[in-house]
Amino acid sequence: MADSTIPAGFFAPRVGRITVSASNAGAQRVRELRAQGRDIIGLTIGEPDFETPGNIKEAATAAMWREETKYTNVDGTPELKAAIQAKFKRENGLDYAPDQIMVGNGGKQVIYNAIMSTVSAGDEVIIPAPYWLSYVDIPLLAEGTPVSVVCRPEDGYKITPAVLEAAITPKTKWFILNSPCNPTGVVYTRAELKALSAVLLRHPHVWVLADDIYEHLVFDGIPFASIAEVEPKLFGRTLTVNGVAKTYAMTGWRIGYCGGPAELIGTMKKVQSQSTTCASSVSQAAAVQALNGPQDFVPKRAQAFQERRDRVLELLREAPGLECVRPQGAFYVFVKCSGMLGKRTPQGTTLRAEQDAVDYLMESGVAVVGGEAYGLSPYFRMSIASPIEELSEACQRIRKACAALR
Ligand SMILES: Cc1ncc(COP(=O)(O)O)c(C=O)c1O
Repeated sequence: MADSTIPAGFFAPRVGRITVSASNAGAQRVRELRAQGRDIIGLTIGEPDFETPGNIKEAATAAMWREETKYTNVDGTPELKAAIQAKFKRENGLDYAPDQIMVGNGGKQVIYNAIMSTVSAGDEVIIPAPYWLSYVDIPLLAEGTPVSVVCRPEDGYKITPAVLEAAITPKTKWFILNSPCNPTGVVYTRAELKALSAVLLRHPHVWVLADDIYEHLVFDGIPFASIAEVEPKLFGRTLTVNGVAKTYAMTGWRIGYCGGPAELIGTMKKVQSQSTTCASSVSQAAAVQALNGPQDFVPKRAQAFQERRDRVLELLREAPGLECVRPQGAFYVFVKCSGMLGKRTPQGTTLRAEQDAVDYLMESGVAVVGGEAYGLSPYFRMSIASPIEELSEACQRIRKACAALR
């Protein structure tokens, strides 16, 4: 049958402003090439390779057999909200009341609800770059203006108080802060958060979206801090976002959550009630177990990611033309590849731009994502959420590919 003919103007202009997530697109390309028989190591996607722990799976099974298979409250089951309330108190020193907490289908939907509830045409959202790409596309979908502020290597790829101050305008609605950061892995210290808070306190119209989703994946004993706890005067205008995906290897269960002012949460509930209604009842039961159950494996997994980071940094140090940002958390390595540009491949192609370098690495058997998607070029991001043997092989391929450039 013939496909439908889409009339001009059928799609809403706002959809034309956004792109499909580059890491999802990269993962699909890897699947296609593998289907053609190509040997590609895929390091595009931000997903722990570890299993969801057995106690969490059992809690989900038990919930199914208790017939917890129906709609839940829009903002989450009372049990999950209680577990989140306890988690915020225990781990972050944050006191959220039940009406200041809500659950969504992943941290992504929580952020989507917040931006859709507050941002409209002309509103600005300050995003330190390099950034997680959805921070840009969600405000664009809301017809707002993402303001990407490049964090310089000499500042450790972190936004400084002066740079934040200069980016704030009367139209600024949100400042998004992601620590540990995807893609650089940088972690803000308490002192740095305090210094940024001092700027924010001078601008009471600016709200803070703190994305703490990589909170438990920190290395070298670096302590994690959340901005609403570091500066309690910001508590009333901070949305603290978190989720179970990264800490508990539960990306497919789709549970994210947040704490914030009750009026904002109430509006976000309204948005969610008209999109997905609620998160999956079974996944919510699993998340209760994740938050309330044993936590001993969490630091062990962080340690495993740290070992992978160390191995990757060690191997890539010997790759000519590459410079790695040293991650202090999360599970990515962000690599500056300007040294590859202007060189010729053994096939005779000159690498002129970041995408040429990414394509060449794909030809060499490793899939990574170009830095442009994260707001900084010429770089690429490689996920280190794969077994160490696979990462070692990927680094050998990258090294060989870089060494073959002339
Ligand atoms: C910085 C950051 N925030 C939020 C998310 C969303 O996570 P989820 O929607 O799976 O909970 C991700 C996922 O990659 C992320 O990297």
